[in-house]
Amino acid sequence: MAFIEIKNLYKSYKPQAKPVVYAVRDVSLAIKRGEILGLVGESGCGKSTLGKLILKLEQPTQGSIMFDGEDITGYSFNAMRALRQRMQMVFQGSAQTFNPSYTLRQILREPLDNYHDERDDEKETWMVDMLRKVGLDETYLSRYPHEMSGGQRQRGGIARALILNPEFVVCDEAVSSVDYAIKNTILKLLVSLKKDFSLTYLFISHDIAAVNRICDRTAVMYLGNIVEILPSVTSGAVHPYTQALLAATLPLDPRERKANLVRFRENEDMRIPEQGCVFQNRCLYTMPLCQEVRPLLEQKGVGHFAACHCCT
Ligand SMILES: Nc1ncnc2c1ncn2[C@@H]1O[C@H](COP(=O)(O)OP(=O)(O)O)[C@@H](O)[C@H]1O
Ligand SMILES: [Mg+2]
Repeated sequence: MAFIEIKNLYKSYKPQAKPVVYAVRDVSLAIKRGEILGLVGESGCGKSTLGKLILKLEQPTQGSIMFDGEDITGYSFNAMRALRQRMQMVFQGSAQTFNPSYTLRQILREPLDNYHDERDDEKETWMVDMLRKVGLDETYLSRYPHEMSGGQRQRGGIARALILNPEFVVCDEAVSSVDYAIKNTILKLLVSLKKDFSLTYLFISHDIAAVNRICDRTAVMYLGNIVEILPSVTSGAVHPYTQALLAATLPLDPRERKANLVRFRENEDMRIPEQGCVFQNRCLYTMPLCQEVRPLLEQKGVGHFAACHCCT
């Protein structure tokens, strides 16, 4: 059985609106224990919402979420308390999520105090051990967020996420606000921590190169829908959206990038079409069928699924 399994998950922030606007629409996904599942797509496509739904930080409008064999869909905040320790989130540029008037000691103590009643000196040892694992040392405990560099804060954010010894971590744009050199060291750190702590990650990023480096599989999201799931995002993509996304991001030569951008049709309307394929308004290959019937994810190869009428 999958470690995490979501089925036909929907999220609308305004369920009363007519027609209903969905941030996440009919998403089904399974995450295996020990894997790094990537989640890519343009800004606003619903990646963070999907991550928060799995952690029950947002409540689904419809659908179900299983965590380690337990149906947590209807769990209240209190019912989630015990499970919270097992699932954590690393946010984009932890700077914004750290309380600026807290030292790193206070930041790390908060989850420990919520879940543990060991003595202060034991917690202190625990925190110092955690800091060493993320490449910081005890001198950082008395620092405030503004006294740390972006990379150090990100390490602090990872330490906070891992301090309760979770099993599943949603890394939401965890390397998106740090510069290139630091990005690589943080990616390596995440991979090595994953092995040391036997973690499972949902690695959310709009950065395909980062996803490509560390993920075992990648799900591609467009306007709240998963349009493709593939073992390696850079090889064998068949969905026109995935191909366009790749073409727009990967080539380093700007001329090539510009030429490739033509793979998208311009369309300002970013609502989910009421019928048919979610990508029909921007796809270069739209056929009448695409405007009528919504394509479901179909198997294209080993571990490879795409939701598209026109790709084979
Ligand atoms: N708390 C919220 N209230 C209302 N709308 C939201 C909220 N959070 C996200 N949205 C909307 O849901 C959609 C998906 O957002 P998000 O999940 O943050 O996308 P991503 O992480 O891919 O950039 C966007 O249209 C966004 O404006
Ligand atoms: Mg986001």
